[in-house]
Amino acid sequence: MEKKIAELKKNIEDELNDIKSGVALYELKTKYLLGKTSEIPALMKELGKADKDERPRLGQLINGLKDWASEVISKREAEIAKLERAERYKREAIDITMPSKKHEEGSLHPVTVVKNQLVEIFSGMGFKVLETREIEDDFHNFTALNTPKEHPARDKQDTFYINDEFMLRTHTSPGQIHAMTSIKPPFKVIIPGRVYRADDDATHSPMFHQMEGLAIDKNISLCDLQGMLDVLVKKMFSADVKTRFRPSFFPFTEPSVEVDVSCFECGGKGCKLCKGTGWIEILGGGIVNRKVIENCGLNPDEYTGFAFGFGLDRIAMLKFGINNIHILYDGDLNALKQFKD
Ligand code: DAH
Repeated sequence: MEKKIAELKKNIEDELNDIKSGVALYELKTKYLLGKTSEIPALMKELGKADKDERPRLGQLINGLKDWASEVISKREAEIAKLERAERYKREAIDITMPSKKHEEGSLHPVTVVKNQLVEIFSGMGFKVLETREIEDDFHNFTALNTPKEHPARDKQDTFYINDEFMLRTHTSPGQIHAMTSIKPPFKVIIPGRVYRADDDATHSPMFHQMEGLAIDKNISLCDLQGMLDVLVKKMFSADVKTRFRPSFFPFTEPSVEVDVSCFECGGKGCKLCKGTGWIEILGGGIVNRKVIENCGLNPDEYTGFAFGFGLDRIAMLKFGINNIHILYDGDLNALKQFKD
């Protein structure tokens, strides 16, 4: 038995030297120390078979082996835990000097920025937002708007026809017809959206954006339009901006006007933006033509209204100093993200 005790001690020592992981150490502990069937407790059981006189001495030897094994294994456990922790720290180390991944902040498209500002201003004046379809029929895009068959706006060069009856809307004005045939007057609406024309140069794109406005009530006059626009341009550009009406012609308004604002860049003195005139044209409008009101099934002796329409892209270009409309649509984010507000 003494030989066996010495053998076990040697085995434990040898195996302990080779152990490098906590798992392997636990296996060794199970093999020699833990439970009733492992080597040292099993030796203790065999003590009963030994000579009676020898038993106390052998018992002491086995207990000594047990204490010694517990101690060396614990010591090794502590060492391995330290080693494993150091290794984990090394593995999980974070290099705080490494440059972080950049999260790009998005921005709204300049046309959306302008549209949102206008929607907010018009909402404050009681206008509701109406969105109508982009594929229109002849009646809504032209006929109901008092645009006779031979009108140049119907020229196939300007209009993207789908077939004889349908086309991509060339302006947001057909929204007026949808409004008057579906909302009971009095009402005030703005109709923003995409419009399409076969036109393409530095200031024209085949797809662009307009915003239409329509107010229908009793006794509406051009003064109502001017008063409303005065408030609008002050909020949109700056408090000292003035409006100017020039007579014009549109089939769907009578009288019709073109509206200029005093140049917000030079204050009216004349500069590159206003081409030396001191004024910048921003929209067309007028008093809704009696025929249009009639075409929508309303009584023109009872109801009158004002209407106006303008290009959102043009306003965005003016506001942000963009000289080519294609900058808005080429998808170059470096260009677009400059124009946030
Ligand atoms: N629809 C016109 C255009 O695209 C703009 C316009 C002018 C709209 C006068 C109106 C208006 O509502 O009254 O050029």
